[in-house]
Amino acid sequence: MKPKLLIARAIFPEIVEKLSNYFELEENQDDIIFSETELVARLQGKFGMLCTSSARVNTSLLSQVPSLKVVSTIAVGYDNFDLAACTKFGVMATNAPDVLNETTADFAWALMMATARRVTEAEHWLRAGHWEKWSYNAFLGADVHGTTLGILGMGRIGRAIARRARGFDMRVIYHNRSRLDPSAESEAGGAIYVDKETLLRDSDHLIVVVPYSAAAHHLIGEAELAQMKSSATLVNIARGGIVDDAALIRALQEKRIAAAGLDVFENEPRFNPGFLTLSNVVLTPHIASASQATRLAMANKAVDNLVAALEGRVPPNLLNNDVLQKTSIE
Ligand code: DGY
Repeated sequence: MKPKLLIARAIFPEIVEKLSNYFELEENQDDIIFSETELVARLQGKFGMLCTSSARVNTSLLSQVPSLKVVSTIAVGYDNFDLAACTKFGVMATNAPDVLNETTADFAWALMMATARRVTEAEHWLRAGHWEKWSYNAFLGADVHGTTLGILGMGRIGRAIARRARGFDMRVIYHNRSRLDPSAESEAGGAIYVDKETLLRDSDHLIVVVPYSAAAHHLIGEAELAQMKSSATLVNIARGGIVDDAALIRALQEKRIAAAGLDVFENEPRFNPGFLTLSNVVLTPHIASASQATRLAMANKAVDNLVAALEGRVPPNLLNNDVLQKTSIE
């Protein structure tokens, strides 16, 4: 008999087919977001779960699902996993990094360009039938080329964003927990390491790419926004909660910064409605990695992790290595 797997969200049919070679599946192609109670019920007797960031895996859940051995998210971000709890309950936790770096970097650029050049604002105006004549000062925006790009968080995605800046003759500055070595800086568009204050003060366009953690909560708040140029744009493709959305709305209303491009929000998908009253924001529904090829590649990574766990191998993207002491995997 095959071990049982819960596919907690809707997923590509070819991924379901692939998984069915290894597991007895319970699917959710209606894409219902299960509450913890529903997840607990569905996870009874399951060996593993394929999930997304919507599934919270913590002590409360894990203490009720003793059969569970592996949780595999189709995302690079794993702030929904309490890794210490996973280890305590002997559950391997895995994510799906790397394959999304370039696609996500492309999208950071799309948001930055759209924000600086007021693309969606202009389109809404056109669609509403307001366009009667060409005007020299219609939708004047900010240049991207030749300006200073600031990157907060210089991991793999941050570096992919930075590399693209070469083609736009930009000066790239960054702040990160640790400084990159000189060759990595040179590959990343000649990025220059600066302290957080300098990053906020000097960036014409600031992109936030840090992973969410308790320490990163409201890393960009009232005080940080106050240090930015009034002409600056801010892009967040990382996670909701890293930017204080209420403070950002105030800053945008009062034009203390020029505009923002946001793919992630606090409390998404029920984000702060204040954003909808603003014309100087570009809003997208957490789609930075959403190209057909990349989402499929992420799902395939998640499958590889599950199959490795099933076959007694170390999953390639294991997040809690210390769990190995509690499993039969060598
Ligand atoms: C990720 O991979 O973390 C994306 O944000 C999708 O959740």
